[in-house]
Amino acid sequence: MSYTIITTLLLFSTITSSIATGTIGVNYGRIANDLPDPTKVVQLLKANNIDHIKIFDTDSNVLKALSGSTITVTVCLSNEVLKSAAADQSFTDNWVQSNILPYYPSTLIDAIAVGNEVFVDPNNITNFLVPAMKNVYNSLVNHDIHTINVSSPIALSALATSYPSSSGTFKPDLIEPVMKPMLTFLKKTGSFLMVNVYPFFAYAANTDTISLDYALLRQNDGVKDPKSGITYKSLFDAQIDAVYAAMNALQFNDVKLVVSETGWPSKGDSNEIGAAEDNAAQYNGNLVRRVLTGTGSPLRPNDPLTVYLFALFNENQKTGPTSERNYGLFYPNEQKVYNVPLSMKDLANIPSAVSNGSKTAVAPSPSTNGGDVTVSSVGQTWCVANGKVGEKKLQEALDYACGEGGADCRPIQSGDTCYNPNTLEAHASYAFNSYYQKQARASGSCDFGGAAYVVSQPPRYGSCKFPTGY
Ligand SMILES: *[C@@H]1O[C@H](CO)[C@@H](O)[C@H](O)[C@H]1NC(C)=O
Ligand SMILES: *[C@@H]1O[C@H](CO)[C@@H](O)[C@H](O)[C@H]1NC(C)=O
Ligand SMILES: *[C@@H]1O[C@H](CO)[C@@H](O)[C@H](O)[C@H]1NC(C)=O
Repeated sequence: MSYTIITTLLLFSTITSSIATGTIGVNYGRIANDLPDPTKVVQLLKANNIDHIKIFDTDSNVLKALSGSTITVTVCLSNEVLKSAAADQSFTDNWVQSNILPYYPSTLIDAIAVGNEVFVDPNNITNFLVPAMKNVYNSLVNHDIHTINVSSPIALSALATSYPSSSGTFKPDLIEPVMKPMLTFLKKTGSFLMVNVYPFFAYAANTDTISLDYALLRQNDGVKDPKSGITYKSLFDAQIDAVYAAMNALQFNDVKLVVSETGWPSKGDSNEIGAAEDNAAQYNGNLVRRVLTGTGSPLRPNDPLTVYLFALFNENQKTGPTSERNYGLFYPNEQKVYNVPLSMKDLANIPSAVSNGSKTAVAPSPSTNGGDVTVSSVGQTWCVANGKVGEKKLQEALDYACGEGGADCRPIQSGDTCYNPNTLEAHASYAFNSYYQKQARASGSCDFGGAAYVVSQPPRYGSCKFPTGY
């Protein structure tokens, strides 16, 4: 497809996306001994325009700190009490009484996650899940607060098959005992399925067959699902559609889905391939852009995506490999681990924050800058095409930048200011630079598989001016 066509499509999708855009939230995990006080965390969330969070308990200090704010919070009834919650509604009555009612509605609790990844809990609690969900729901009904959704995050390992997406099915031993009753419950109560998806795991285990570009939502050729004919541009979308396919196979085509966790570690052990700051920045940044400016997944394009990133902070008391302690967007001192947009405002603001290319631009403290995102500490730089990679690669990268990448390619259209010189390399340079500046010169955003590189002098292509920001 030529970039003019993609640009047209992009303009169209910009218009339609105003009807329904996705939602980004963040998981606020607290398995750490060095995190800021919840009241400070609420300030951090506000400063970064994060208005949806999910926590893993009903911590009183956290829920109190959120009181009166516009931040919605999904809380969790832990796996430890699932058995009790399933056994007896007086248990869930009491639980709601002491864990929800004291905070709601001044704290905007929007959902209760009943358990977390219950099927992989070593204590064999799967059979308690649906009865517990029903009891929690009935307790909410008793207090007339059942607008609060009741769901439960499942791990992607609940699927027996996820590749290709169209063959997605739940594990046979889960279907009758739990998936069918759970989906029936979710449908009846107007709730949604929660699923935790980590393309990182699939990538790290299959680096020979899965490309990093595909895993990080970067420009790539995509992977075609032979059965549906859909070409997936990212592993994230493919994994989501595998879950939809599994739901469709059980005739639950109308139950919605929320991605309750996804993320990418900024650090890992030497055998954790792909765990790196650059990759984490790109995965999360590309995902946020995709969720906030794109459609739903190919199987449900009209269902906007709701995605909770994992996680707000690096959590130093998590066990397991190094990656487990390095999923955070922020360090405990509230500095960003890497530069990443988290909201529509960020996506729009990043460029203006760098538009003057100040050499001293550094990450401003979130508490004092009123929400502007951090900017690159690098001085004034631009991105240009590397003609050596050949026309085909250059054209592909150009198509991506002007299409999914969201670069401003109007100036290189025929008759516009940067149409001349009318060469592929000049046009690609313009598009790559636009993309790079829009990404706030995030590291890795001027690469395009080797088709681009960073320069510190303003590029010269005729009288075309290369912006340093938007
Ligand atoms: C519960 O989920 C439904 C379906 O996604 C949604 O329309 C509704 O707004 C949710 N309720 C709350 C309180 O967020
Ligand atoms: C798990 O518990 C159920 C009963 O709740 C039982 O039927 C099943 O055999 C148990 N599975 C394992 C692996 O212990
Ligand atoms: C950029 O900085 C210069 C000098 O600091 C200032 O005069 C100019 O107005 C700034 N331009 C923008 C667009 O902020």
